[in-house]
Amino acid sequence: MASLTFGNVDYALEKGESVLDGLTRHGQTIPHSCEVGSCQSCLMQAKAGDPGSMAQAGLNEALKAQNFFLACRCFPDEALSDEALSVALPSMADTTVEAEIVAIEMLCHDIVALRLRPVEQIFCRPGQFISIVRDGGSLIRSYSVANLPERDGYLELHIRKITDGRVSSWAHDDARIGEKVTVRGPAGNCFYIPSDEGSYPILLAGTGTGLAPLEGIVLDALAQGHTGPIHLLHGALREDDFYHIDLLRALVVRHENVSYTPCVLHPGTDHDILDLQVGPLDEFVDSALGKLEKASLRTYFCGAPEMVNLLKRKAFMAGVASRNNFSDPFVIAADRRS
Ligand SMILES: Cc1cc2nc3c(=O)[nH]c(=O)nc-3n(C[C@H](O)[C@H](O)[C@H](O)COP(=O)(O)OP(=O)(O)OC[C@H]3O[C@@H](n4cnc5c(N)ncnc54)[C@H](O)[C@@H]3O)c2cc1C
Ligand code: FES
Repeated sequence: MASLTFGNVDYALEKGESVLDGLTRHGQTIPHSCEVGSCQSCLMQAKAGDPGSMAQAGLNEALKAQNFFLACRCFPDEALSDEALSVALPSMADTTVEAEIVAIEMLCHDIVALRLRPVEQIFCRPGQFISIVRDGGSLIRSYSVANLPERDGYLELHIRKITDGRVSSWAHDDARIGEKVTVRGPAGNCFYIPSDEGSYPILLAGTGTGLAPLEGIVLDALAQGHTGPIHLLHGALREDDFYHIDLLRALVVRHENVSYTPCVLHPGTDHDILDLQVGPLDEFVDSALGKLEKASLRTYFCGAPEMVNLLKRKAFMAGVASRNNFSDPFVIAADRRS
């Protein structure tokens, strides 16, 4: 059995238990969301002992150097170091910045765009995600960046309303222009990577607000002069779930290397007018994969985790190298805790 120290108190952990699970079982409130190492909500700092490399996967070098780690991926009984682990929650002052809401726009019936201007510049690549921190740090949720923050001077987030969702409901019902919010980040490796060749093909696909990071990546690629083909596929259940159709079609008109395919699963009466493809997103991705040269192809998949994992598998099976296969599954908070 392993133990760890938190707030000058020693806690016993069960075999195979993570720091997040152990401390929560002992009644401590540790912010968290995805519980699988994707969202970085459960960031903690090791004051003594080694949290292990798995607990630091995906963190930037500055955070690693300061012994930050992800509590949901840290299993003290597997630690290589003999030194007992002593952990603390990160100081809000060191890891967050304030940002002002400068615009709010409904994009479709259940997705709102929030534009946030941080009071101090944070260097964020389009497609990475930032976290909105609420309730004094106990509630943290990740949202992807859909625009070019350096050019625009703000971060644009697309937030889908979840029934009884604490942060998404705030974004839809209570957020106001001029309101200050606390943000942490950026994080994630889903962003455009320029290369000397500049002409490799890119395939991007996602469902719902998975479009947010993909749109950011496409804008970034074009801003950096990418000349290779860029294929963007967006899937949604119904016609009224789509957004930014006009904006993306205008992009296609301006850039001959860009294609955009919106595909609806359950078409209504308007899919002809909207010129939507009908069918499951993964079938359109299959078809695109069949036509593209795989050796240099880079794929980006974001949104609902089941679809992201399916598309990742398909890309891998089709011959896309793992190092060229980027993804952000929008893993949701588990029900059992805050
Ligand atoms: C890397 C990353 C990037 C993300 N980017 C975005 C983004 O750009 N836009 C965006 O809208 N979201 C994004 N998310 C999801 C987001 O972080 C939140 O999980 C989501 O907004 C719900 O938070 P909430 O506080 O409103 O709901 P919670 O209070 O966490 O959940 C309330 C209840 O709703 C359920 N629930 C939560 N989410 C869903 C869902 N999607 N479908 C059905 N039930 C659900 C929960 O199980 C719970 O019962 C991302 C997640 C990750 C990990
Ligand atoms: S990374 Fe640990 S809860 Fe999401």
